[in-house]
Amino acid sequence: MNPYREQEIVEILNSNEPEILNSLLQAAHNTRIKQLGKEVYLRGLIEFSNYCPRNCLYCGLRKSNEKIHRYRLDEEIIIELAMMAYNMGFQSIALQSGEIDSQEQVDFLAAIVEKIILSSKQRSHQSLGVTLSVGELSYQQYLQLWQAGAHRYLLRIETSDPVLFKKIHPPSQLYDRRLECLDALKDIGYQVGTGIMVGLPGQSNEQLAQDLTFFQKRDIDMLGLGPYIPHSDTPLARVPDRHERDVFTLTLKMLALARLAMPDINMVASTALQSINPLGLRWGLMAGANIIMPVLTPEEKRSDYSLYDNKEQKSMEEITAEVEAGGFKLGYWKWGDSPHYFQRREELKQG
Ligand code: 5AD
Ligand code: SF4
Repeated sequence: MNPYREQEIVEILNSNEPEILNSLLQAAHNTRIKQLGKEVYLRGLIEFSNYCPRNCLYCGLRKSNEKIHRYRLDEEIIIELAMMAYNMGFQSIALQSGEIDSQEQVDFLAAIVEKIILSSKQRSHQSLGVTLSVGELSYQQYLQLWQAGAHRYLLRIETSDPVLFKKIHPPSQLYDRRLECLDALKDIGYQVGTGIMVGLPGQSNEQLAQDLTFFQKRDIDMLGLGPYIPHSDTPLARVPDRHERDVFTLTLKMLALARLAMPDINMVASTALQSINPLGLRWGLMAGANIIMPVLTPEEKRSDYSLYDNKEQKSMEEITAEVEAGGFKLGYWKWGDSPHYFQRREELKQG
């Protein structure tokens, strides 16, 4: 239940009062501690390919960006990285790439997921948890990856406003298609995550308030919400923004409001948030985030996975220090699933 109506949310987002911000963050923090405790769960992020057939106007991986060097990691490297995450006690990985656009690539990914689960199961009773984020696929392909053992999927809606969605995507990329994908993922049984970018050119606080309503209506299990950061080699970076705003604070407010509205979902302190402020990780957690995705992509490929400019890369030592400085605790050796998912499934069973 959202403690605020949309109009109140707009007022909070519009406000420059430090007291309003402080009490919002405090309330979100209290809710998080009560519902989820102090633990912060890890998803080792493996960005296994930066090829993408899409042309989102904001993203550095877009097909038309000829300035980046494209790569695909080999199967052995991906499995090695996954097992490294496992040995570090992460217990979950996230496999991410530009959008997959062939059955051959789905087969490749499904085989890898199976192998990762098998290898990790041989070492302990609980395998690695596998989250995927590889774009819009068919129902059958999502099902294939689920049957291979993946159980969480992230597909951001980017903005819940169909008009703004149209402005930041080429005409071939459809808002309704993304909704269909989110429906398919839920129907198959995945823990479903979506999210948006905060501070897009032309995005209003009313639209952000509607994004929160969208997440609730969709009954999501996971949220990935981060600031929009212009990438100099994309068309959207050349679009001037009329709003002069503090995107960092706006993102923290959105995280806190999301935590209050959806107390038991998993919420990530995004790399983008960490990239625009040196204290982004700590503040993200203090605003209610309970998931971190440390990047495990090989060092020499990381700069090629350039969704936006100046992407932050924190070491595990830095992450640990930040988490502890905020009074939180890293949840090693646990899947750290979204409690909301189990509640939702239980309700579904009971009809
Ligand atoms: N700024 C912030 N986030 C971005 N993403 C892509 N480009 C940008 C950008 N310029 C995010 C999108 C996408 C995810 C893979 O990365 O939300 O869903
Ligand atoms: Fe491709 Fe995703 Fe970037 Fe769009 S946001 S260009 S689908 S990687």
